[in-house]
Amino acid sequence: MGNFQMTELNFLVAPGGALHGQWRVPGDKSISHRAIMFGALAEGITTITGFLDGEDCLATINAFRAMGVVIGGPDQGRVTVHGVGLHGLQAPAGPLDLGNSGTSMRLMSGILAGQAFDCVLTGDASLTGRPMRRITEPLTRMGARITTGERGTAPLQIHGGQRLNGIDYPLPVASAQLKSGLLLAGLYAEGMTRITEPAPTRDHTERMLEGFGYPLQRDDERTVTISGGGRLTAATLDIPADLSSAAFFLVGASIAPGSDLLLEHVGVNPTRTGVIDILRLMGANIEIRNPRLAGGEPVADLRVRYAPLHGIRIPEALVPLAIDEFPALFIAAACAKGVTVLTGAAELRVKESDRIQVMADGLNALQIAAGGTADGIVIQGGTLAGGAVNSHGDHRIAMSFAMAALRASGPIRIHDCANVNTSFPGFADLARSAGLQLQQEAVA
Ligand code: S3P
Repeated sequence: MGNFQMTELNFLVAPGGALHGQWRVPGDKSISHRAIMFGALAEGITTITGFLDGEDCLATINAFRAMGVVIGGPDQGRVTVHGVGLHGLQAPAGPLDLGNSGTSMRLMSGILAGQAFDCVLTGDASLTGRPMRRITEPLTRMGARITTGERGTAPLQIHGGQRLNGIDYPLPVASAQLKSGLLLAGLYAEGMTRITEPAPTRDHTERMLEGFGYPLQRDDERTVTISGGGRLTAATLDIPADLSSAAFFLVGASIAPGSDLLLEHVGVNPTRTGVIDILRLMGANIEIRNPRLAGGEPVADLRVRYAPLHGIRIPEALVPLAIDEFPALFIAAACAKGVTVLTGAAELRVKESDRIQVMADGLNALQIAAGGTADGIVIQGGTLAGGAVNSHGDHRIAMSFAMAALRASGPIRIHDCANVNTSFPGFADLARSAGLQLQQEAVA
């Protein structure tokens, strides 16, 4: 095909160093996606600041533009969404490519199931390998018509013009993406949609629905009920920094002697703070300063200083509250004294990569004894050697191994890092300014 060349991006990180400084990591990915979706479906103009200008959230913007929504920005985190109302989306000219973004696909399935037009949702090699029946099956029960590939994967063909009915649905897995996709379908359904989770998961959808003036009922920590037929009113949103991005620096500063960081305006919604709790159980020194509310979400500044860590058995109740932070936490465990045991985390096997296998392989390549189990991992803390690891295109694995270099005895080369841009554009520069000796290598 002409002179088309695949280039791969690697990180090469020299060993040692410490992290210092005070800054704000980019905006929260989960909240940024939802801000576009709710803004698009609302009546009026929604103004967003602090938006994450990463590839996943840009995929959501592009998909709504393809359905006729006028969206200005992102410009330094500012976005304006000209809402078209719940029934104002238009049929896109072709399939909607959601790239690497599971959140876009699962939440948009719920929205698109309620539209009058047909639509196809697709994505990259990772996304088209991830399980989608978990969302299409309950949507089908609501009356949607969705065709998946044979293995229950994308592309998803969503046939519009169906009448949806509310359901009372106990979620088989603790997943905010499923809960949110079903609540979004519930906006279009006749009657009540009631979702019960096996364990609490992030509640950004519920908070944002309230922020857009849509009534919902939250009976206890695990049940939420919504009725169709209402309307969303445009809102002004200030999106906090992403705790999931801050997590790499929380771990990096915790493992590197001499480190002292202040991370500003970080989202500390209690359904997301498992990473802080787990690190503290391991002995980390993290202070939560100046807690406040910003646009309906709890926010704080986080000060983190080096502290010697010890291995723990991670409480299963914290797993859904730290679900995206395990790659970084496994690096903390590798640097801790003793053994860390994770159970109840089978979901990690169906994220952007199989995060149990890929992390165990990478840790083993760096001479750390780590063994995956069906639903977790056992990691024996030790001395990280230098070496080469493969992130398998998983952004969080790439950034986690970059932090591992702070405690390694030799350089670490991390292959396949381009997807860091899905969630954390500017990671390499920020990490360097904080003290990580990171170089990027483009490999033809
Ligand atoms: C997300 C929910 C989580 C998380 C993902 C973002 C969300 O996925 O891993 O990065 O924004 O709702 P699951 O709900 O599948 O666990």
